[in-house]
Amino acid sequence: MRKPMAAANWKMNKNSEETRQFLQEYMTQASDLSGAEVVICPPFTLLAMLQQELASPNAPAWGGQNCFWEDKGAYTGEVSAPMLKELGCSYVIIGHSERRIIMGETDGQINQKLKAVLNHGMVPILCVGETLQQRENNAALSIVKNQLDKNLKDLAVQPGQLVIAYEPVWAIGTGVNASSDDAQEMIACIRSRLRELFNDDLANSTRILYGGSVRDDNIAELMAKPDIDGALIGGASLEADSLVRIARIIANG
Ligand code: PGA
Repeated sequence: MRKPMAAANWKMNKNSEETRQFLQEYMTQASDLSGAEVVICPPFTLLAMLQQELASPNAPAWGGQNCFWEDKGAYTGEVSAPMLKELGCSYVIIGHSERRIIMGETDGQINQKLKAVLNHGMVPILCVGETLQQRENNAALSIVKNQLDKNLKDLAVQPGQLVIAYEPVWAIGTGVNASSDDAQEMIACIRSRLRELFNDDLANSTRILYGGSVRDDNIAELMAKPDIDGALIGGASLEADSLVRIARIIANG
C-alpha cells in the first residue's frame, strides 16, 4: 500500500518571517490530511526552523532540495547528507531539472547523491523528466528510461526507501501541466522499469509523483490515475491554503 504524498518544493523562496507565518497558517488549516504524507522542502537556511516548529506528531515531514555526495571536506558551498540528517530531514530532492539544467548536474553525480542520501537513512525524491523538444521528438520515454538507468545504477535500496517524481521540464512553472493520460503513461513506464531494474516489491512500493504546474484544480484528475501516488508542488506550495487544498485532495484520492 503506497501512502499518497504531497511534497512541497519551495525552491529559493521565503525568509524566516514568511516561513513562520506559513507554518502557523498551515497548522491551523491542516486537519483531515492523515491520508497523505506531506513533506516541506525549504531552502537549507530554513531547515533548523522547521525542525523546531514541526515537532508535533501530525506535523508534516521536511527535507532538503539537494545535497552533496561526500560527508564532509573541502567542498565550499556544499551541504552533505549527514548535515541534513542532523536537521531532522526525512527526504532529500535529488536531480531536480533546475539543478540538471542550470547547475549542470550529471546523471553520475545524481547517482552518487542518491547513494549518499540512502546511506544516511533518508529517502531520496529522485526527479526525472524530458524537455519539450525531447517530447516533440517522441523521445520522452527513452530519455526518462535512460535517466532512471543511470541515476539508479548499483543502488542498494529497500522497498519504501525511494520516491520518484516525474516532472516534464516543459510543465514546470509554466502553468501547463501534463495531461493525466500522459502522466499516467510515463509513470506506469517508470514503475515497470523499476520492476526490471530491481524487483516487484520495489516497483510496487515506490511512490511515483507527478510534478509540473500542479494546482488545486488539476490534481484530482491526476490522482484518479492508478499509478500516480501524489505530487511534487512548486509555485502552488508557497501559500499555506493552496498547499492544504492540494494535500487534502491527495489525501482523499
Ligand atoms: P511548479 O514546480 O509546481 O511550480 O511547476 C514543480 C517543481 O519544480 O518541482
